[in-house]
Amino acid sequence: MRLSPCDSQIRPWLLLTFVTWTLAVEQQADYSQYVNVFIGSEGPFPGQGFGGGDIFVGGARPFGVAKIGNDTAGVGYYNTKLQNGVEVELSASRHAGIMQYSFPKGDKHYLPGSPSDANSQAYIGGEIKIVDDGAAYNGYGTYVGGWNNGAPFTVYFYGEFSDPPKSARTFRGKNTDPMRQYQTYASGGTSHPTYGNDSEVSGPMNDRIGAIFSWDSGSDMRIRSRVGISFISTGKARSFLKSEIPSWDLNDTVKSAVDEWNQDVFRKIQVPLDNDANITNVRLLYSSLYFIHLMPSDRTGENPLWDSDEPSWDDFYTMWDIFRCTVSFYHIFQPTYYESMIRGLIDIWRYQGFLPDGRSGNWNGLVQGGSDADNMLADAYVKGMRGAINWTDGYAAMKTDAEVIPYNTYDPTDFSASTKEGRGALGDWLELGYVSQDRNTRCISRTVEYSLNDFALSQVAAIEMPSDQQKYLNRSAGWQKIWNPDVESLNFTGFLAPKFSNGTFNNTEYDPRYCDGCEWHSITYEGIPWEYSFVIPHDMETLIGFMGGPDTFESRLDIMFKPNMSVQDLDMNGAGITTLMNIGNEPDFATPYLYNYINKQAKSVEKSRTLGYQYFKDAAYGVPGNSDAGAMNTWILWQMLGIYPVVTQPVYLISSPWFPDLNMTINGNQTLRIMATGLDEGYYVQKVKINGQTWSKNWFEHEDIMTQGGTIEFELGSEMMAWETGSVPPSPGHVKV
Ligand SMILES: *[C@@H]1O[C@H](CO)[C@@H](O)[C@H](O)[C@H]1NC(C)=O
Ligand SMILES: *[C@@H]1O[C@H](CO)[C@@H](O)[C@H](O)[C@H]1NC(C)=O
Ligand SMILES: *[C@@H]1O[C@H](CO)[C@@H](O)[C@H](O)[C@H]1NC(C)=O
Ligand SMILES: *[C@@H]1O[C@H](CO)[C@@H](O)[C@H](O)[C@H]1NC(C)=O
Ligand SMILES: *[C@@H]1O[C@H](CO)[C@@H](O)[C@H](O)[C@H]1NC(C)=O
Ligand SMILES: *[C@@H]1O[C@H](CO)[C@@H](O)[C@H](O)[C@H]1NC(C)=O
Ligand SMILES: *[C@@H]1O[C@H](CO)[C@@H](O)[C@H](O)[C@H]1NC(C)=O
Ligand SMILES: *[C@@H]1O[C@H](CO)[C@@H](O)[C@H](O)[C@H]1NC(C)=O
Ligand SMILES: *[C@@H]1O[C@H](CO)[C@@H](O)[C@H](O)[C@H]1NC(C)=O
Ligand SMILES: *[C@@H]1O[C@H](CO)[C@@H](O)[C@H](O)[C@H]1NC(C)=O
Ligand SMILES: *[C@@H]1O[C@H](CO)[C@@H](O)[C@H](O)[C@H]1NC(C)=O
Ligand SMILES: *[C@@H]1O[C@H](CO)[C@@H](O)[C@H](O)[C@H]1NC(C)=O
Repeated sequence: MRLSPCDSQIRPWLLLTFVTWTLAVEQQADYSQYVNVFIGSEGPFPGQGFGGGDIFVGGARPFGVAKIGNDTAGVGYYNTKLQNGVEVELSASRHAGIMQYSFPKGDKHYLPGSPSDANSQAYIGGEIKIVDDGAAYNGYGTYVGGWNNGAPFTVYFYGEFSDPPKSARTFRGKNTDPMRQYQTYASGGTSHPTYGNDSEVSGPMNDRIGAIFSWDSGSDMRIRSRVGISFISTGKARSFLKSEIPSWDLNDTVKSAVDEWNQDVFRKIQVPLDNDANITNVRLLYSSLYFIHLMPSDRTGENPLWDSDEPSWDDFYTMWDIFRCTVSFYHIFQPTYYESMIRGLIDIWRYQGFLPDGRSGNWNGLVQGGSDADNMLADAYVKGMRGAINWTDGYAAMKTDAEVIPYNTYDPTDFSASTKEGRGALGDWLELGYVSQDRNTRCISRTVEYSLNDFALSQVAAIEMPSDQQKYLNRSAGWQKIWNPDVESLNFTGFLAPKFSNGTFNNTEYDPRYCDGCEWHSITYEGIPWEYSFVIPHDMETLIGFMGGPDTFESRLDIMFKPNMSVQDLDMNGAGITTLMNIGNEPDFATPYLYNYINKQAKSVEKSRTLGYQYFKDAAYGVPGNSDAGAMNTWILWQMLGIYPVVTQPVYLISSPWFPDLNMTINGNQTLRIMATGLDEGYYVQKVKINGQTWSKNWFEHEDIMTQGGTIEFELGSEMMAWETGSVPPSPGHVKV
């Protein structure tokens, strides 16, 4: 038998190992027993990932660097391994992993990546050395590619085995991966390795290299292996390994991982677990919590690009996904990590010029819509997050997004402008106040997002730079400039519409139910104009007026939830969903809650609850679209809590909770308690009390319960009551153009 820890034994997210992962289950206080790590591993077609969560399955720590698992990106070669019968158990610390291989007889083969997938990553060089007479090895691998089209990055490793091998030797051979640009020999015939004794470097042609370790069979067929990784050096990889995984007993690492998850995450939410508890819902709760803690990665001390005392974070995948409700969850639930993330983001701006929208492999990219880190910073700011964040720089970073046109990196995804960072269509925005169709791609969705981004700036400017506040507030009304009151669709008039730079609308065959694929080159990205026409959280007042007032707004919103209305094929971004409303993608996340803006909260409950029950499950096909760094999973978490945040404002909309009692540790050491009576009769709100006071509004402010803690008491029932008599939720970005 042999093991070849060659080109990609450990990578931060694309890993060469095989998994049967089991979490230790011991006592009642161990909430990890309720975590289903496979939620999202399948789409609508059983056994296939297509249309599913695109999740990571394996061992990891909350926001940890090492993710140890079987790579589920479609590669396919692990099944071969499984057929060979090797069982691998694994677990991870923050920067290291431990694996236990139980071998049957037979050779194992590692196969290359998938060049037909434009987003796949490729090995392009490395080095490996055998040390300590074969008991250990170290080196590095350099990789390129991935969704963000980043520069190559290097991961150093240090690994060792529980039992010294009988023999160990290195090998190298031609790199036959058919990867474009990277000096490979795709058509060069079979590659035969040459063997060395203890060290290999890939050399100028990116040779694949590796090592072969052999043990006598017959004795113990279990070999344990520990591997540490670092973005800095093999020495650091070794020290992570020694300090984080001191034991050879896999169970010790599993136990420490479970303890950390319980301590850092699961124990902070408590719901009844007695005989009356709906364990399916409990599992959905804790599993969703798990999935929102896999990304981004806390790389503090592991930044290979610059020296700084600030924390370092990577794997933002992406702001476009997580700004809508995930960052607001971090804010209340993980304020320490969150403050650190924000400091890390600002440091990226300090040293690289721009905040990221997406980032991985130490590289900013891609930007799908606006510069949505602005929304995250504003959300944190208006809710009072200060700590060690330098907000002078924070605001300056936001202002860069609003004023500096990013250099076009001619990314193959879209050659028209930068997709790397900032706002690619900023030229139009500065000149016209909207993004035009003739000069830019994604003209409608980027106009919508730049509007919110500028509102975000105005929110922070209010305190950090009052002289800027009105300017950005004015600019946040840019979406109004592309509102075409004459466009008609499904008996409603007035929609966002494509506009030319000369100020006239493009009325040719415009139908807001279509988007031409909703791709990078389309008028709207991952959603149709019908959907984007509801995505104006900062000025719902103007939007409702544009749509014809509360009644028309209501019936238009109703149409969003009517089955069989969708005519645009959204491919995997819309798998199986026939309504215009697409809960499988982020732009519509807030839409089911918009009835609160016309004091019809019962309908928000009806729509959002129905979506929650229909599409979110404790099952492999348990999320209706990509998890997207936990964005999808956060949507269902807020739904289960019975509240929903309005991003960039210190405001939460009230819906209806799923549990009769829930305690949540917030703001570090405060408690938010959400109680509900009448759940067995129905889920419509009959009455709400906040901190013991009867509440007449269907929304509340951050200060009400999220800083010192507090209580919300719901009386639920079957009747769709119009219980709210107070003012509708605010529209602080209300501007008349
Ligand atoms: C990898 O994980 C998927 C689930 O995400 C599972 O279906 C597959 O069998 C696993 N492959 C191996 C080799 O364990
Ligand atoms: C490996 O070691 C053997 C024995 O010392 C030696 O004969 C051989 O030349 C070495 N091979 C390489 C590639 O260094
Ligand atoms: C590790 O934990 C599992 C599950 O609790 C148990 O079955 C197994 O015996 C443990 N192994 C060792 C070596 O303690
Ligand atoms: C929530 O906390 C209160 C006060 O400590 C306690 O009485 C209640 O049992 C807790 N509820 C749950 C579900 O743990
Ligand atoms: C638990 O709640 C779900 C809704 O999430 C429901 O479908 C299911 O029937 C409930 N299970 C029990 C045992 O009440
Ligand atoms: C924020 O950072 C700037 C330089 O980047 C520095 O001049 C300023 O003193 C810092 N502010 C605080 C409060 O540390
Ligand atoms: C904002 O817009 C109003 C109305 O068009 C205008 O009067 C005002 O000068 C603008 N303010 C700034 C700072 O641009
Ligand atoms: C639009 O209105 C007409 C006339 O009232 C009606 O026949 C048609 O069904 C309506 N269309 C939709 C999509 O509701
Ligand atoms: C505006 O630009 C469009 C597209 O270039 C062109 O078709 C149209 O005629 C122009 N309209 C005016 C009034 O110049
Ligand atoms: C106007 O819209 C039509 C229909 O989508 C499209 O084919 C055409 O290219 C657009 N015109 C311009 C100048 O972009
Ligand atoms: C939606 O269309 C499908 C296929 O045409 C049909 O079977 C189904 O009954 C329709 N659903 C509704 C609610 O109209
Ligand atoms: C609660 O947390 C805050 C913020 O982290 C901290 O300043 C305070 O000392 C903590 N209080 C207690 C009692 O732990």
